[in-house]
Amino acid sequence: MTTSTTARTVLFDETGGPEVLRVHDLRLPAPGPGEVQLKVEALGLNRAEALLRSGAYYYPPTLPGSRNGYEAAGVVEAVGGGVTDLAPGDPVLVAADFHLSTHGVYADRVVLPETVVVRRPAAVHPVTAAAAWLTYSTAYGALQVVAGMRPGDHVLITGASSGVGTAAIQVVRRAGAVPIATTRTEVKRQRLLDLGAAHVVVTDGEKDVAKESRRLTSGRGVEIVLDAIGGPGFQELGGAVAPGGTLVSYGWLDLRPTVLPMNWPLTVHGYANLAAFPTPEDRRRAAGYLFSGLADGSLRPEIAEVFDGLDRMPEAHRLMESNTHTGKIVVRP
Ligand SMILES: NC(=O)c1ccc[n+]([C@@H]2O[C@H](COP(=O)([O-])OP(=O)(O)OC[C@H]3O[C@@H](n4cnc5c(N)ncnc54)[C@H](OP(=O)(O)O)[C@@H]3O)[C@@H](O)[C@H]2O)c1
Repeated sequence: MTTSTTARTVLFDETGGPEVLRVHDLRLPAPGPGEVQLKVEALGLNRAEALLRSGAYYYPPTLPGSRNGYEAAGVVEAVGGGVTDLAPGDPVLVAADFHLSTHGVYADRVVLPETVVVRRPAAVHPVTAAAAWLTYSTAYGALQVVAGMRPGDHVLITGASSGVGTAAIQVVRRAGAVPIATTRTEVKRQRLLDLGAAHVVVTDGEKDVAKESRRLTSGRGVEIVLDAIGGPGFQELGGAVAPGGTLVSYGWLDLRPTVLPMNWPLTVHGYANLAAFPTPEDRRRAAGYLFSGLADGSLRPEIAEVFDGLDRMPEAHRLMESNTHTGKIVVRP
């Protein structure tokens, strides 16, 4: 198999709008010990990357020349010394666990530590694989591992049209629990129902989420809330939770300070996916969960749009920030 030493790579030199993302030809060093070189077939976009680009992520980008991108699917082209679990030709996905500025995968070729690369079944299409790891591992880690979701639980998913939200609807269904989805726009209601939401609460100023959640659970409240939004609305979510229930905060789409609900007893978790699967054993279990779900059809990544060409990355970021999409945005380099 031939390897190239050039990689078309998306970089940005300053924080700002999508237009700061530009494609450069970079020399790619051969993989060193413990590293693998991948030919990238598809990139899955995440809100975190728009936040990094604009300077609003929880850490700042390293400028100039910051890389970006957590998720990719591709094929191994070359391996460095000591790599024995992966070989050229293996289909893989990138299980994000790195600093975006130094290891971001928006490129047609990347060199990464073998520890962030997971072999994928050949039957899993690259577009599906690029859209799967971060969303499903976040929903699985937050709901199953941290919140201990059980069959029959009611689970309120805020920002449910997001990549993680659409995955969470399926993860809740797979556990025999009941997903209640929120969106700000009526336009997305039917799609969320089609994806498996048992109920959709449209929040654009009309509906009180806490009141609706209690109405849908005969006054009891939901056992778990999975919240992507934070901000002052977080406090109101406390009113949606049954006594002793669990609120998992994993996103901060509302950039205002988050207010803690005080209707105790209540458990609040701050969930970080990058820290959720620290050992190879944890990662093996998350991969087992994902690939079995993709194989039996209970997990089906919702793809909002596929863009062809790294040059279209600014367009893809613009779509993400328009919030008109449902599910994952994918770019094929
Ligand atoms: N902690 C972790 O480990 C972890 C892992 C993955 C993602 N995240 C975080 O999770 C969040 C979602 O990420 P994603 O990539 O799945 O998002 P995404 O696909 O970009 O979708 C975001 C959706 O949320 C809604 N939304 C956007 N801004 C909002 C606001 N200010 N208030 C209320 N709703 C808003 C919109 O849906 P509607 O218009 O339908 O309301 C939008 O379509 C981000 O904050 C991301 O950083 C955290």
